[in-house]
Amino acid sequence: MAKKISKKSILGIDIGGSGIKGALVDFETGVLVTDRHRLATPKPADPVSVGHTVKEIIRHFDYDGPVGIGFPARVIHGNVKTATNIDKSWIDTDAQKLFSGISGMPCFILNDADAAGMAELKYGSGKNVTGLVFMVTVGTGIGTAIFTDGVLVPNTELGHLRMFGDIAEAYASDAARTRINLTWKEWGSRFNEYLLYLEFLFTPDIFIIGGGISKKFSQFENQLKTQAKVVPAKLENQAGIVGAAAYALNMM
Ligand code: BGC
Repeated sequence: MAKKISKKSILGIDIGGSGIKGALVDFETGVLVTDRHRLATPKPADPVSVGHTVKEIIRHFDYDGPVGIGFPARVIHGNVKTATNIDKSWIDTDAQKLFSGISGMPCFILNDADAAGMAELKYGSGKNVTGLVFMVTVGTGIGTAIFTDGVLVPNTELGHLRMFGDIAEAYASDAARTRINLTWKEWGSRFNEYLLYLEFLFTPDIFIIGGGISKKFSQFENQLKTQAKVVPAKLENQAGIVGAAAYALNMM
């Protein structure tokens, strides 16, 4: 069913390992003006199949305009450069060109954690916060976004720091929690070790924790022992969609 599009809204899409979610976002307030529409990530999640899923989401909203897309990899000028939790065929794909070509809409792509961080700084828990802000999004992987006095250092990929012989996200992501059936307390202690490691290396002023687990913050916050303040993402797991839309607005 066609949805009414206001001139104040932009379509944001968040591509994840299991789902691809989109919604129209009021870019003045950062509020979703439609329900989220979620489609399963195609299997295999090769570039053309994912491109068609993105097109279906755009069609669902009967949307005509710029589209912002958060993607779970390092993205440099629209080009995908890594593929940890996604199909390896993405490496060196010009995702911006591919999505724009398949959908016929101008698409703007950035790393998913960078998108979530942008949303939190503009509309959420990082609004008017100065200093060194670390956004950490936790899901299948761990994504990070660093802001210094509001300026993003893109594609930081600190979920790939080494911990106990593997990458940190293998130890402390939400996927690790479910894979080995950890309680929130057990997982919270692991996540605390990860945050302490980040703190040792970078001394941020504040950590903002995003992704699906942000809704469960009260279940593990007692395990977190950093000097820096730790807060959940105000936009919870909508931050990726909202930030992607804000990015598209900036790129127009
Ligand atoms: C990817 C990052 C991404 C994070 C969260 C990691 O595996 O390398 O680019 O931001 O997962 O999706």
